[in-house]
Amino acid sequence: MTRVPPPSSTSPVAAEVTQLRRELDQHLHSYHVLDAPEISDAEFDGLMDRLLLLETEHPELLTPNSPSQRVGAAPLDAFDSVKHELAMLSLNKCSTLEEFDDWLERVGDRLGYADFKNLEFTCEPKIDGVAVSLLYENGVLVRGATRGDGETGEDISANVRTIGAIPLLLRGERIPAKIEVRGEIYMPSLGFAVFNEAAREKGEKTLVNPRNGAAGSLRQLDSRLTAVRPLSMFCYSAGVTGDWQPEAHWDVLEAFKSWGLRTNPATSLVTGRAGCAAYIEALLERRATLGYEIDGAVIKVNRLDLQRRLGNVTRRPRWAVAYKYPAEEATTIVHDVEYQVGRTGAVTPVARLEPVFVGGVTVSNATLHNMDEIARLDLRRADTVVVRRAGDVIPQVAQVVLAKRVEGARPIEAPTTCPCCNSVLEHDEEEVVVRCPNFGCPDQQKERIRHFSSRLAFDVEGLGDKLVELLLAEQLIANPADLFDVTAEQISTLPRMGEKSATNVVRALEKSKTTTLPRFLYSLGIREVGEATARALAQHFLLLPMIRNASVEQLEEVDDVGPIVARRIVDYFNDEQSSALVDALLARGINWPEIDDQATASDSAPLAGQTWVLTGTLEAMKRNEAKARLQALGAKVAGSVSKKTTQVVAGPGAGSKLKKAEELGIAVMDEAAMIEFFATQNNA
Ligand code: IVH
Repeated sequence: MTRVPPPSSTSPVAAEVTQLRRELDQHLHSYHVLDAPEISDAEFDGLMDRLLLLETEHPELLTPNSPSQRVGAAPLDAFDSVKHELAMLSLNKCSTLEEFDDWLERVGDRLGYADFKNLEFTCEPKIDGVAVSLLYENGVLVRGATRGDGETGEDISANVRTIGAIPLLLRGERIPAKIEVRGEIYMPSLGFAVFNEAAREKGEKTLVNPRNGAAGSLRQLDSRLTAVRPLSMFCYSAGVTGDWQPEAHWDVLEAFKSWGLRTNPATSLVTGRAGCAAYIEALLERRATLGYEIDGAVIKVNRLDLQRRLGNVTRRPRWAVAYKYPAEEATTIVHDVEYQVGRTGAVTPVARLEPVFVGGVTVSNATLHNMDEIARLDLRRADTVVVRRAGDVIPQVAQVVLAKRVEGARPIEAPTTCPCCNSVLEHDEEEVVVRCPNFGCPDQQKERIRHFSSRLAFDVEGLGDKLVELLLAEQLIANPADLFDVTAEQISTLPRMGEKSATNVVRALEKSKTTTLPRFLYSLGIREVGEATARALAQHFLLLPMIRNASVEQLEEVDDVGPIVARRIVDYFNDEQSSALVDALLARGINWPEIDDQATASDSAPLAGQTWVLTGTLEAMKRNEAKARLQALGAKVAGSVSKKTTQVVAGPGAGSKLKKAEELGIAVMDEAAMIEFFATQNNA
């Protein structure tokens, strides 16, 4: 028997492999970094197929940096954590030119400059994506990590390797032995739209917005899933630079570019305040045409020696500021107002709009919240309206353009019966909301099941809206408990469901049976019981029967729970149908590990032993919610600042407490930083 000798590095096969990799890397660079593809997709695929074939035949030639490795690797059980050698900072924000001037003045004071005519700044778009750190050693990508809380992130190397815009090997000259590249991974608007269109067609879950899309993609333990998401990256700063000592931020960006890293072409080097102001205005003009979402401009003092002199306060550099743009707006026409029934029966008016492009996404629906909102806006059918979209939030109708109202525009009448099941709607005196009282209302059922399987609840992979609708339509399920009785066989008979995906859904459902008490409570969809309240309830009572039997008074002892929430919880468990649902779920074998008693649970909590103080106005999150989340993470939330305070969260209008914190040198963050921090704790 003759054995085929392994190809040496000089063998023709090895040479071909090397050549193919070089070519593929070049094409990836031209396509993703330079935006100038040189060959067709089919030609690219041809080269890749040839490389894959050679690597399969000669596995000894395989390297982790081969472009073939970008398809993703075997799934991980969990992400390792990564301690950042240098903390990944946040930015101070401003939203008017006056506030920007205040920032400039502080920069000037510190540097002892009277005027800024000749001071250079780098101005960049503030990308709405996910901050990451890429570590290259000797030009080889060795690790990708998320920002996390700025100190510690997660190792997402496998996911990062699948992103075409990120070089696995640096090219060019004078590459430092060790260089940490930081930047933003984001989902381009077009990729987002195409991905959602395909998901909609397949009846799978759509992405809420490009930022969530990027964050969710990077959170995949199976990098093969990340590989099919349209992601890209802009590199905007250096962390660890080893023996490389650049003089200016602009030089960092130029070097990045020369090494094949993707930098943002919309970045400018400007001089003085006038240069910054012009950039801020010009970028805002271009915002809708950039092809990706931004939420502002970042202005950075260009010289790195000046940056070092300015330093940081509370994890934010003094040498940079984010100029936040207002939420994006567009005008369009309201064709109609329809009513949606939520999982708690609340009937919400939704404006059906002439589709309009607002900041990277096409909007065709906007929430109107309730009938009072319609009255407040004085909205009529066929009105021209201003639609606003900010970050994560659902598009809103900001105002009616009265000047464009057509004659005879009909006012919108409040519904009296449920748009789904025709039950007579109830109007609670204390609430602005009207409700469908029928627990069995099909829309309510659908929404309850949707909530039940959502990410923060049972997190059932593959159980999208379409599938829930089909299961309901075929009467295979009527409530969340029924999900666990559905067989793969039944699912596979549904339109567009193969055997394999049917088995996967059943498997995911089975897996989801082991959960946690907070998730279980949240999944029930009890009115007013969000994630934070569910956690607080579980921590307080430890056992489900204790919560089911608790009185209003006992429930009110929980930090986050007031009389209304307590009443809702009691009502829920007293209600025959909802109580039967809880029993039915338990009978299906839903289980969770017992919660250790308070002491051990809170010792290991991320904020154990810390005392936080909230002061000033919170704008995005309810105070109670913030408090409950902090407590759920183990922190004590106090009302006044003292030496014992660990962290102050200060919103607009913060006064004496903030002053005291500054005097005592206690760390201060704003609400946005706190929310960013919560986001990093979400997977826990
Ligand atoms: S510089 C000190 N530049 O904004 C340097 N950040 O609030 C901090 N971001 O976590 C980062 N675009 O996710 C910088 N061109 C840009 C940016 C940018 C988006 C994000 C980044 C960071 C957050 C800071």
